Amino acid sequence: MDPIIAATHADPYPYYAQLRTAGGLAFHAGLKVWVASSARAVCAVLAHADCRVRPAQEPVPKAIAEGMAGKVFGQLMRMNDGERQRCPRAAIEPALELIDEAHIRALVAARLITVDADGLYKAMFRGPVCVVAALLGFNPAQGRTISALTADFVACLSPLSNDLQLVAAHGAAEQLRGYFVELLAESDSQLLTAIRQRFEGDIEALIANLIGLCSQTYEATAGLIGNGLAALKRQPGLRGASMDAVLAEVQRFDPSVQNTRRFVAAACEIDGVRVEAGDVILVLLASANRDPALNEQPDRFLLDRPNRRSFSFGSGRHQCPGQMLATEIACATVREILDHGVNLERLAWHYRPSLNGRIPLFNIVGD
Ligand code: HEM
Repeated sequence: MDPIIAATHADPYPYYAQLRTAGGLAFHAGLKVWVASSARAVCAVLAHADCRVRPAQEPVPKAIAEGMAGKVFGQLMRMNDGERQRCPRAAIEPALELIDEAHIRALVAARLITVDADGLYKAMFRGPVCVVAALLGFNPAQGRTISALTADFVACLSPLSNDLQLVAAHGAAEQLRGYFVELLAESDSQLLTAIRQRFEGDIEALIANLIGLCSQTYEATAGLIGNGLAALKRQPGLRGASMDAVLAEVQRFDPSVQNTRRFVAAACEIDGVRVEAGDVILVLLASANRDPALNEQPDRFLLDRPNRRSFSFGSGRHQCPGQMLATEIACATVREILDHGVNLERLAWHYRPSLNGRIPLFNIVGD
């Protein structure tokens, strides 16, 4: 096991506990990165001004720098510190907070769901982006296209992607840009209007960050839905409980984003450890959630956990602005899947290959 393999391992949590015992922030000689595993170290890294989301010498990964996907990547708030993060964030974060929860639920309910393996895949990977696209003002047919293009675009975010996938990602970025140019000329959806009113950057930065809303939704929300279904299969006692309560604990207990990274911009001390400029820190969000210093009895799945604390949506400057939206989409989707009569007993899964995402891919045993 290592901290990367852990993300898609059947049960990484005992290993994370070992890492915490060995030291909250420790150097991993095999991976040549620092690993933050305790809640204190994770919090300190994410709060530190010298811990940046990209390495100074490679703001955009070399493999995509020359094409459209690289252009979009280079403008995403998620991939920048300083003005290029603060400016889009100042417009998008408050606008996401205004979204009406009932509207989200209605958009999820309007989608067709089937409970075979393909239907579950679509509900996890296509449905959430369709909801975000609808909120931005796309019609349902456009939403399906945006969702398919987002699936191709996100390949540019993963170092596991091959050349063919990267070519498709550039093409998808180009097409997504085209769709958003048209949308900005036509749509007056509440969400888009709220974002535009506050947005102070140029139009290309706006478009990149609207594409970013779709790409940030794509895998992480699929993972929350999938890990919710996995919890319901493992613990039949949860099936009658409120879905809000189930997913509130699922996101802490078995998060879809297991880790993130930071790149040290200047030598500094973090949680009592000296790190040098150029060092890389792997930040184990999922491990911090299981730190007994953060949550009592962290390895128990407790629906009514008092004072639940979680790093699953990050913390500090880059903390996820889509948490409410993601949670509502996931709750409504899991409810729909249950209402459509999925046979949880027959669900089996493996995790999608990834360096940081914990996203089950289901098949239905006996089909
Ligand atoms: C269950 C679903 C989701 C999870 C677990 C999740 C998790 C995260 C995490 C951990 C970060 C911080 C990454 C870091 O600091 O390195 C993040 C950032 C972000 N998320 Fe989410 N996210 C989810 C869904 C969404 C949705 C639905 C949206 C928007 C529609 C969204 C938009 C963003 C954006 C824009 C950022 C970058 C913020 C910044 O850099 O200032 N996320 N998310």
